[in-house]
Amino acid sequence: MRWKLGRVALAAVVAAGMSAVAVAEPVAAAPDRSAYAGIVPAPVSARADRGTFTIDRHTTITAGAGAGGVADYLGGVLRLPVRGPGRGGNTIRLVLAGRDEGNESYRLDAAPGAVTITAGRAAGLFAGVQTLRQLITGGTIPAGHVSDAPRFAYRGAMLDVARHFFTVAQVERYIDQLSQYKINTLHLHLADDQGWRIQINSWPRLATYGGSTAVDGDPGGYYTQDQYRAIVAYAASRFITVIPEIDLPGHTNAALASYAELNCDGVAPPLYTGTEVGFSSLCVGKEITYRFLDDVIRELAAITPGKYLHIGGDEAHSTSQADYITFMNRVQGIVAAHGKQVLAWHQIVSATPLPATVAQYWDTTNDNPQVAAAAQRGTGVVLSPANLAYLDMKYNAETPLGQDWAALIEVSDAYGWDPGSYLTGAPASAIRGVEAPLWTETLRTSADLEYMAFPRLPAIAELGWSPASTHDWAAFRLRLAAQAPRWRAQGINFYRSPQIPWPSAS
Ligand code: ACM
Repeated sequence: MRWKLGRVALAAVVAAGMSAVAVAEPVAAAPDRSAYAGIVPAPVSARADRGTFTIDRHTTITAGAGAGGVADYLGGVLRLPVRGPGRGGNTIRLVLAGRDEGNESYRLDAAPGAVTITAGRAAGLFAGVQTLRQLITGGTIPAGHVSDAPRFAYRGAMLDVARHFFTVAQVERYIDQLSQYKINTLHLHLADDQGWRIQINSWPRLATYGGSTAVDGDPGGYYTQDQYRAIVAYAASRFITVIPEIDLPGHTNAALASYAELNCDGVAPPLYTGTEVGFSSLCVGKEITYRFLDDVIRELAAITPGKYLHIGGDEAHSTSQADYITFMNRVQGIVAAHGKQVLAWHQIVSATPLPATVAQYWDTTNDNPQVAAAAQRGTGVVLSPANLAYLDMKYNAETPLGQDWAALIEVSDAYGWDPGSYLTGAPASAIRGVEAPLWTETLRTSADLEYMAFPRLPAIAELGWSPASTHDWAAFRLRLAAQAPRWRAQGINFYRSPQIPWPSAS
C-alpha cells in the first residue's frame, strides 16, 4: 500500500528526525523491521512482529491519567493531535499503569491498529517515547515489542558554561539532544576562573562583573535566576534533572575578582581569560567565605528542585591539604543545611564525605585505592573517567576542536568500558552511573558542542542505560550509523568517525 504524506505528516517526519530521503520522496517507505535492532541505547529486549502502524492524518495520541505532559511533548514532536483516553483505532496510546517496576522502565507494543507505551511513571513513558521516535521511518512504525529499563539511575551530561557562555536557547537545544538518548541529568558547571554564570541576588557583582568574561576574551554572560528556572523547567519537561555546580575552593577567580573581601589579602585579582587551572582559592580561614557560600548555596538551593548541588573540589592546587579538608567538610554542612546533598569531584574523598555525598570520578586510571576505599565505606560514585568519558577530548590528533591532556578518544574508546566493573575495588553497588562532561575552553557554538558530543554522547548514554549483556561494539557501530539520518534531519553537527559505517548520504 502506498500513500502520500500530507504536509502535516511531512513536517512530523522531519520533526521526528527522519532521513532527508523520506522528505525528498513523500511516499511511505517499506517498514524497517530492523529498526528494533537499531535502538540506541540498546533496550533490555526488542523484537519485530508482523504488520505496520501507519502515521497518517487520522492518527491521534491518547493520554491516560497522568500522561498528558508526555503526550503533549510527543504531539509537538510528531505534530499530531492529543486526545483524552479512548478506544479508537490509529492511535498512539500512552498509559500509566499501576505496576511500577522503577522510575523509567516502560513497555512499547506496536500493532497495525495502535501503538501503546505503558509505564509506571511518566519518566518511563518519556523513555518509551524516545524509543518510539527511533522506530519511525517514512511515517511508518513496524509492529513489534520493546521491554526496557535502565541499568543505572544516574545518566548524566555536563556542560561547562563558565569557560564559554551558552545561552538558554543553546542549553535547551543540548537538552533536547540529550533526552533522545535517555540522559536524565544535566550538570551545569556554572562558575570557574573565567566566569560566574548565575545571578546571586545577595552578591550581585558575581554575575554582573564576574560573569562579564570568557576564555580568550570572548563575550561573557550569565543566567538571571528566572532564566535558570526556565532551563530547569525545560529540562524537567524532558525528565532531566539539573545539578548546578559552583566549583570550590579552587576555580574561583571570577568570584575573587568580584569581591576583594573574599581574598585572604583583601585584594581582588583581575578577571581571567586564560585556560590555566589551579591558581585560585577562596580564603579558607576567613569567616566571610562561609557567609558568602551560605548565601550562594541558599539561593541556588531555592531555585534547584533536584536533590544535588555540585561543589567542585577538583584541582585545588592553591589550597593546602589541611585547608581543603576543613573547607570541603564545612561546605558539605552548608549544603546539607539547605536541604541538599553533595556531588563533588572525587578529590572530596580526601576530606570526610557525608553519607549522602556522591563522588564524581574523573581520573584517567581505573586504579584509585582512595576512591575505591570510600566506595567500600558507602560513598556513591558517578564515573566520568577523563580518558573515556570527557567529550572535550579530541578524537584524534587532527581534530580541530578540543583538548588532548587526558587522551585521544575515538568512538570505540568511549564505548569500550564497563561502568559496573571499571573502578578496581569499588563495589558495583556504589556505582550510581555515568556522566559525560563537556568542557568548553575551545568550544564556542552549538555546532562545536555537537561535534564533540556526537557520536560519543550516545556511546556513554548506552553504557548508562543498557544492560551489560547488550554490550557489543560490532553491533553498536551499526546502530550508531543508523542514527545519522536523524542527526542530519535535526541539523546536529557530528564527527564522521571512520570507525562507523555511516549511510552514504551522511
Ligand atoms: C576536572 O576535569 N578538573 C574535573
